[in-house]
Amino acid sequence: MKIGVPKETASGEKRVALVPDAVTSLLKKEGVSIVVESGAGVASGHPDSQYSDAGATVGSLSDALAADVVLKVAVPSVEDISAFRSGQIVISHLSPWTAAETNNALARAGVTAFAMEAIPRTTRAQAMDALSSQATAAGYAATLIASNESARFWSMLTTAAGTIRPAKVLVLGAGVAGLQAIATAKRLGAIVTGFDIRRAAWEQIGSLGGRPLELDFIPDAEDEGGYARPLTDEENAQVRDALDENAAKQDVIITTAAIPGRAAPILITKEGVANMAPGSVIVDLAAETGGNCELTEAGQTIDVNGVKIVGPTNLASNLAGHASQLYAKNLENLLGLMITETGAIELNFEDDIIEAACIAHEGQVRGERTAK
Ligand SMILES: NC(=O)c1ccc[n+]([C@@H]2O[C@H](COP(=O)([O-])OP(=O)(O)OC[C@H]3O[C@@H](n4cnc5c(N)ncnc54)[C@H](O)[C@@H]3O)[C@@H](O)[C@H]2O)c1
Repeated sequence: MKIGVPKETASGEKRVALVPDAVTSLLKKEGVSIVVESGAGVASGHPDSQYSDAGATVGSLSDALAADVVLKVAVPSVEDISAFRSGQIVISHLSPWTAAETNNALARAGVTAFAMEAIPRTTRAQAMDALSSQATAAGYAATLIASNESARFWSMLTTAAGTIRPAKVLVLGAGVAGLQAIATAKRLGAIVTGFDIRRAAWEQIGSLGGRPLELDFIPDAEDEGGYARPLTDEENAQVRDALDENAAKQDVIITTAAIPGRAAPILITKEGVANMAPGSVIVDLAAETGGNCELTEAGQTIDVNGVKIVGPTNLASNLAGHASQLYAKNLENLLGLMITETGAIELNFEDDIIEAACIAHEGQVRGERTAK
């Protein structure tokens, strides 16, 4: 059974699906071989020689694409998909809830496709949960960008030249990325406030040393699956008013709020931005799905009366080394459910993880949510 790792083709993508340590680990299984496209790991700090030393073959793109299982990071383009062959297994981010064209192209290509976004958020699947591992990298990277752009210390300093007061940082959305942003901002010495519409997150914010912003006029918005439900228009307006007012007190706002499969909620309006002092910074992690700030432009840094609004895309790629390491571990754990002791592929669709993550098989798009 051969595993292929092509070099990522998406613009700005520096991650690689397998790091050399994961190659070593996967090759411990009898009957498994791995071919990595030359140069695939360079941008994440892994030259070809590290893959050869780990036991992989370094080859061409067509060598990697000829494998039984192809591992990728970023959503493949329709052109990339046309190079896959029928019967092959493809595992990657695939944006299954929003990229119908990708789903259909995968089904047409006759591949069995597993979407990393569709891995269930269950305890058993945690070690394969790429949404979490990559959100951790994104939350950390967003905080460092905010720190860089803010042109100030974040910690309190008492110096002979005067006292510096600590930065005030507000983090909106306290899921995986937001909690990592809170923890990173705390480590830099800031006074951190966190907000989420799920009450369970308030305690988590506190456990990291943040102060939860308790807007308790909004009822707990956690659904049965543990995710946030969309707020009503009236609730949204109340939250926006409170946050626009709170924005005036902050030096930095990092926004990470999301509802799975929907556009990001607007939490900071242009009035909120106007309330902030010149020199303040907003880093909007939700830029790709519309932004949590009304003025965010995806992929741009804009200046609105001295307030910088940064709309980064693909932040996990900023931390390509460690983001790849974690992603490779997620893939290795998922492959562990598919590869037998003798190195054969066996897909057990009775396994809830295989069943949920497989979004195309035998020429069909699979799964109710994907089909929608
Ligand atoms: N394996 C597991 O058990 C596992 C792993 C990871 C996450 N989870 C759970 O999944 C949930 C979501 O995690 P995620 O990081 O993927 O979330 P996400 O990226 O979908 O959203 C980020 C955060 O935004 C919040 N949010 C949504 N609308 C908001 C609004 N209007 N105002 C403020 N905040 C808003 C959400 O509650 C969430 O915490 C959490 O409950 C988390 O504990 C479970």
